Amino acid sequence: MNNGSNTIIPGRFEGRRALVTGASRGIGAAIARRLGAEGATVAIVYRNRSHDAQEVASEIVDKGGIAFTIQADLAETSDIDAMWKAWDVTSEELLGDNRLDVLINNAGVTSAAPLTEIFEHAYDRVMAINAKGALFAAAEGAKRMTQGGRIVSIGSSAADRPGALNGAYAMSKAALLAMTRSLAVELGQYGITANVVSPGYTRTDNTAHMLTVPEFAARVSELTAMKRFGQPEDIASLACYLASPEAEWVTGQWIEASGGYRLVPPV
Ligand SMILES: NC(=O)c1ccc[n+]([C@@H]2O[C@H](COP(=O)([O-])OP(=O)(O)OC[C@H]3O[C@@H](n4cnc5c(N)ncnc54)[C@H](OP(=O)(O)O)[C@@H]3O)[C@@H](O)[C@H]2O)c1
Repeated sequence: MNNGSNTIIPGRFEGRRALVTGASRGIGAAIARRLGAEGATVAIVYRNRSHDAQEVASEIVDKGGIAFTIQADLAETSDIDAMWKAWDVTSEELLGDNRLDVLINNAGVTSAAPLTEIFEHAYDRVMAINAKGALFAAAEGAKRMTQGGRIVSIGSSAADRPGALNGAYAMSKAALLAMTRSLAVELGQYGITANVVSPGYTRTDNTAHMLTVPEFAARVSELTAMKRFGQPEDIASLACYLASPEAEWVTGQWIEASGGYRLVPPV
């Protein structure tokens, strides 16, 4: 039984440069590891967990790749500017210029409250990181891209099938679809694509508290065609395909990687 797709395609990203937000752990770390293993130079962006981010970078470097870390709080546009300045300085030092080929907008937070009880600061935070942060990161990232550039944002199946309690989170992820379609139209003329990968339930720190509740875990498996939870590598697999040169003709799309979550009719 497969527990997460992890088939490395050697050399797929040779000579390409990527920046992955929220890459200190979970889905972002899996994407960064895979990009690094397939030959990309990778910037690992984190908010607090410098040790975890450094570990991901070290794993890539130990296998012969190039990786470095950047600290930034994506809720702050001044930090997003500083993140790109750090990218410019380090990539010019290591590679001679600041070209970027792949931006993975992965950093995200959840918010759980009924819409009738949501606090403004909770709404502002989830929108600032998940939607505004992704847009401003993409705006600056695109300026560093040339023909073949790829922007991949990590959405959520909550965007089109939200459950109770996650209205603000669902709104923030739905915003990524509009953003992505607009980026695709605007940047297509330069040979740059933009797409969204929409994960179903995936085992990370973010979901650990839910997936350890046996009844909840059983319900998620039951509603999933593949009868298991996602692993971060399952999401990395699709994100890396969309980030790769071969995905040139796919743009403005919202693609779910969920093992068929909620395809199974409830009995
Ligand atoms: N796991 C799932 O089931 C699931 C399902 C659907 C969608 N998603 C989406 O997938 C993405 C990754 O989720 P995950 O489960 O892997 O999350 P996670 O394990 O909680 O990791 C979150 C990552 O985002 C970073 N981050 C959080 N707030 C940030 C901020 N303000 N500025 C910069 N970085 C920040 C964290 O950095 P630090 O480590 O430094 O805190 C960490 O690297 C998110 O966009 C999430 O909404 C996840």
